[in-house]
Amino acid sequence: MIRLDDVGYTYPDAPAPALQHVSLEVPPGSITGVVGASGAGKTTLAKVIAGFIPQVEGGELTGSATVDGRNLAELSLVEAVSKVGLVIQNPFNQISGARYTVRGEIAFGLENLGTPRAEMAAGVDEVAALLRITDLLDRSPYALSGGQMQLVAIASMLVLRTPVLVMDEPTSQLDPAGTRLVFSVLDTLEEAGVTVVIFEHKLELLQAHADRLLVLADRTIALAGTPTEVLADERLSGWGIGATRYTRAARLARERGLIGAEVPLPVSFDQAAAVFGTGAGGAR
Ligand SMILES: Nc1ncnc2c1ncn2[C@@H]1O[C@H](COP(=O)(O)OP(=O)(O)OP(=O)(O)O)[C@@H](O)[C@H]1O
Ligand SMILES: [Mg+2]
Repeated sequence: MIRLDDVGYTYPDAPAPALQHVSLEVPPGSITGVVGASGAGKTTLAKVIAGFIPQVEGGELTGSATVDGRNLAELSLVEAVSKVGLVIQNPFNQISGARYTVRGEIAFGLENLGTPRAEMAAGVDEVAALLRITDLLDRSPYALSGGQMQLVAIASMLVLRTPVLVMDEPTSQLDPAGTRLVFSVLDTLEEAGVTVVIFEHKLELLQAHADRLLVLADRTIALAGTPTEVLADERLSGWGIGATRYTRAARLARERGLIGAEVPLPVSFDQAAAVFGTGAGGAR
């Protein structure tokens, strides 16, 4: 269980806090999505949950951030890294640069933990198959496309099998098929009991895969709830967050009087089908 109580954080020498009064709970074995406009503090919150803040970044953290009841700020970096994996926003920065093949790159973290060679090889093969990058294993990490690099960065964290995985915009470089693959891997992880916190803009996929959604705005958690509750909230646009294509279509239909103002806005295909399917003549 990840728990933040009234967390505030100010970067070193920054004039104002990046996060204020952040309280949240992430139940074990669940997928939590976090949305927020650019600059809202997503990366900062990801680093707090992963123990990188304040351990690596410095600055001033107030309030309490715990994982399984242990204060993140009191864990050694090695302990924090073994509990929480962080897929950082820019996959190019996740690559260690210390290995000449993708296989070596994915194995790098396990190597540092002193994992036996056979176990390491099996672990790398397994995550590579899961992310469909087996054919890249003998390639140079520097000869990859952005999307391939992103999958390698994700694999290098998955292979560590941390009980908590924090992912900061892990599909930003991926095409729609790659993006769907990553979300389906999240479902696999969830079934295996892994706790996932994903910072992501793709609302339709969050709706389909996340158990809960949090909205970061004005340096704090402005809203939390089920994906349906959060995505139907009229305040989202004011926080610089879009709406699903289903909600947008229903808004247009509402503006044109095709559906009544009393009809709740749909956030998923099934809900939209129900709304439009009842209209005159149907939407087919
Ligand atoms: N190292 C830093 N030092 C000082 N201020 C920082 C630092 N990193 C981020 N900030 C500031 O903290 C705030 C939150 O930034 P953060 O990177 O967490 O936002 P974000 O939601 O991840 O944005 P994006 O969508 O662009 O990735 C911003 O105002 C940013 O300028
Ligand atoms: Mg960010």
